[in-house]
Amino acid sequence: MKILLTGANGQLGSCLQALAKNSSLFTVIATDYKDLDITNQQAVIDFVANTKPDIIVNAAAHTAVDKAQSEVELATAINAKGPNYLAKAANTAAIPMIHVSTDYVFDGTATQPYLPNYPAKPLGVYGETKWQGEEAVRNTLAEHIIIRTAWVFSEYGNNFVKTMLRLGGEREELGVIADQYGCPTYAGDLAAAILACCEQIKGGKTAWGSYHHCGDLPTSWHGFTRAILAEGLAQGKLSNSAKLNAIKTEDYPLPAPRPSYSVMDCSTMQKAWGVAASDWRAALTKVITLL
Ligand SMILES: NC(=O)c1ccc[n+]([C@@H]2O[C@H](COP(=O)([O-])OP(=O)(O)OC[C@H]3O[C@@H](n4cnc5c(N)ncnc54)[C@H](OP(=O)(O)O)[C@@H]3O)[C@@H](O)[C@H]2O)c1
Repeated sequence: MKILLTGANGQLGSCLQALAKNSSLFTVIATDYKDLDITNQQAVIDFVANTKPDIIVNAAAHTAVDKAQSEVELATAINAKGPNYLAKAANTAAIPMIHVSTDYVFDGTATQPYLPNYPAKPLGVYGETKWQGEEAVRNTLAEHIIIRTAWVFSEYGNNFVKTMLRLGGEREELGVIADQYGCPTYAGDLAAAILACCEQIKGGKTAWGSYHHCGDLPTSWHGFTRAILAEGLAQGKLSNSAKLNAIKTEDYPLPAPRPSYSVMDCSTMQKAWGVAASDWRAALTKVITLL
């Protein structure tokens, strides 16, 4: 199965390339923005026509949540228009597309884990543009899977795990937000979930629609940091660790508002595609080993 992968050098893209390399089932046409800028509609049309993939996996995104507040045009181009162009090209080529979105499409007022059909109400530009991208895919291409994920970490790129390990080693005290709850997700587990979908699509499965795939155990940024520092110490990646303090969202003002609760229910993904939620604690151990 020939997969056209966009955003191939990001966290998810890198994990997906690494996994697919070990499988004889997939050939990945790995592209980053230099090979295929998804905001260039003609480039997308030409690339799909020339390479003739069996499926598109869109891992490209503008993921800088705070920067997006002042880069509305760029975030819209990458998160909303790009997915639209990809979905149109997929429609023309009569191939399916797997698109990745975010827990930040929700406003955080729910009191139990979000199911995929819960009404979206993004709080910031990142969430809003990702929602527009989802809607464009839904309205353009029947044969789509949209997978929302959250709090992504991996051995690749910059992410919360790497930042906290660094700060935990450098500082005497570390204040981390303890009143925002979500589900850390290992990009490698998400990549494996996407490849599991691809394999089943190749086998004829057609459970198109929107799903959630994220960590199996909700926590706060503070709780996540505690786990990161403990693992860093246990593996000897930190000789000593900062004293960890719990702070409130209002104590650490950032440009983008974030949902205080973005825990997602992954059960429909498990039922439809046989993919379990990410065991982020086991993945954290593995990722810190690799750093
Ligand atoms: N990271 C998270 O915590 C998180 C949370 C929820 C959902 N998600 C979603 O999960 C997916 C994967 O996220 P990730 O963490 O792997 O993101 P990432 O590491 O930021 O990777 C995104 C990739 O897209 C590339 N890109 C940017 N603009 C592009 C363009 N115009 N054309 C082609 N490629 C372009 C980026 O290149 P440059 O780096 O060179 O710009 C980067 O390689 C995204 O859909 C994201 O919205 C992520």
